[in-house]
Amino acid sequence: MVTVDGALQAFIDDVESVVGSTEDEHEITKRVAELLSALLGSDYRLPDELTRPSDEHHVNYPLYIAPGSGWSLAAVVWNVGQRTPVHGHETWGVAGIYSGAEREFRYAKPMAGESGRPLTRVGENVWEPGQVTVCCTTDDDVHSVAAVGDVPTVGIHVYGADIGAIDRRSYDPETGAVRWFVSGWNTPAAAG
Ligand SMILES: [Fe+2]
Repeated sequence: MVTVDGALQAFIDDVESVVGSTEDEHEITKRVAELLSALLGSDYRLPDELTRPSDEHHVNYPLYIAPGSGWSLAAVVWNVGQRTPVHGHETWGVAGIYSGAEREFRYAKPMAGESGRPLTRVGENVWEPGQVTVCCTTDDDVHSVAAVGDVPTVGIHVYGADIGAIDRRSYDPETGAVRWFVSGWNTPAAAG
């Protein structure tokens, strides 16, 4: 885990207080989105090693995992042209763009009993630096994300669980086929 500086510690304390105040995911995500928006609008800078892409695939670096894994904070980095599979999160999530830009493709989450049917596209957005989106609540959490533009895309994401450790679904949008996975966390390379 990275060293947490004063600005990030204040953000963590504020999120902790929101998460501890209610179980309502819509309320939590609304308030966390406001906090993340303020962080991105401040002079906070991520450590350089948490903004480095991998040539192989997008990477998730842990910024903070709450004791008890009740929520987590990630720096997510896509190299130019990288794209995630269509995936779910199985919890709430708030995503902000730190640098670069992403195109998000949203899908309706299949209900129980709807497996084996193609997924329904419900929206598409381009997100740019400073913008924050509620990517997920447990019942509405399916999307894919592509880095757009000619520089890597870096996001700061807040999730309602240890997002590197929980069981999540990826989907074949053409068939609706589901594969369960655990993403794990990537380790930042030592500063060179
Ligand atoms: Fe995602």
